[in-house]
Amino acid sequence: MIWGDGLQQDTVLKVGLVGSGFSARFHYEALERVYGVDRRVVGVYSPTPENCDSFARERGIEAYPSLDSLIEAVDVVHVCTPPSTHERIACAALSAGRSVIIEKPFTGYFGENEEDFDGRTFDRERGLNGALASVQRIREAEQRSRGVVMYAENWVYAPAIQKEREVLEKTGGQIVWMHGEEAHSGSHSPYYGIWKYSGGGSLMGKGVHPLTAALYLKQVEGRARDGKPIRPASVSCRTHLITGSEAYRDAGYLRTGYRDIEDFAGIHITFDDGMCADVFASELVLGGVHNWLEVCANNHRTLCNINPNTAMQTYNPEESQFSDIYVVEKTGTKQGWAFTSPDEDWFTGYQHEMQSFYTDLASGRTPESGSLLGGDTIATVYAGYLSASRGAQEVEVPRVL
Ligand SMILES: NC(=O)c1ccc[n+]([C@@H]2O[C@H](COP(=O)([O-])OP(=O)(O)OC[C@H]3O[C@@H](n4cnc5c(N)ncnc54)[C@H](O)[C@@H]3O)[C@@H](O)[C@H]2O)c1
Repeated sequence: MIWGDGLQQDTVLKVGLVGSGFSARFHYEALERVYGVDRRVVGVYSPTPENCDSFARERGIEAYPSLDSLIEAVDVVHVCTPPSTHERIACAALSAGRSVIIEKPFTGYFGENEEDFDGRTFDRERGLNGALASVQRIREAEQRSRGVVMYAENWVYAPAIQKEREVLEKTGGQIVWMHGEEAHSGSHSPYYGIWKYSGGGSLMGKGVHPLTAALYLKQVEGRARDGKPIRPASVSCRTHLITGSEAYRDAGYLRTGYRDIEDFAGIHITFDDGMCADVFASELVLGGVHNWLEVCANNHRTLCNINPNTAMQTYNPEESQFSDIYVVEKTGTKQGWAFTSPDEDWFTGYQHEMQSFYTDLASGRTPESGSLLGGDTIATVYAGYLSASRGAQEVEVPRVL
């Protein structure tokens, strides 16, 4: 196998999944839809043997007893595990010469194994430095490795964002302002509300999606016009725990009970060229997932609707009729008008990111979303947390090298 120069013609890429939960499932399904590149999912490893075994059995793949044994058996490792584990798994795979596909968020700061670590009170400067050090360790492991890092931020590959890439490249447009959001009524994963596993709240768990897409499009713009990416320079940010405030009146529709994270974030980003973007992320929005990015350029304007969009709308007079019909992510009810998604994974870019990663691996092409974009996202998020701890004071985004 020849990494970096494309693959020999008859190479079959052997693929391993780490994690057997939600994201491992959609990675597997997206892998099934990849065309034109020979690849075979050989196995899965996760530390809960029953889940790992049933995940493997249902798909006819092998359940590996340890991370090392899985890494040994494959060429590409998919990191589909909680954020606090991404760095360790990615670095183990890279040091064995494997390529890695790391789910969002790239990495972060999860405390330093303190029993009583509290996401509300730790020093945000320590958090920023810790998160950056983690980014650097992954990038250094990549530089030493034959493998490459692919950052699985599906928004980068979502058809709407890729169409906007084409518009920017062909028109030479300058993005003057972007605004975007990822929000819904609250994540139900029990780990989600706990900083030492998630590395943050809404900004980290949800905001990274529109944020990475915005950072990506400024990279595209800079590369197209001047041959180098335009990168984030500074941020100003506010975060709140709205559902935890004394004044909040719980009507029962939004998730509550987050331990030590925020459930609302607003971050203002200024880029190297002085242009800007605003990203909102929250657990406070009813009516299904609300994921969009609007691009205001000097020569055009684009609204990228990731979800919902109007590809299909259904009117259902009676909830029970749709009991076994999937409509759209996180919708509270299926009665009445709905933004039914005919192929949600397509609109969110899951299969496009997998297709692109495997085409890149086979051809030796640099991934559109790699460790620099993942690293810039994390530097921006943790500069945001530092800014929020200082009452939204402007904070420089440290340069990921
Ligand atoms: N791109 C997206 O739209 C999207 C959606 C959901 C989740 N995610 C990301 O995917 C990642 C996993 O989230 P999920 O929803 O699949 O979680 P999940 O809880 O459904 O699954 C996590 C899996 O990781 C395994 N695991 C936990 N610790 C491990 C360790 N130390 N080593 C190996 N395996 C370990 C668990 O056993 C489980 O199988 C997170 O980073 C999350 O942000 C991305």
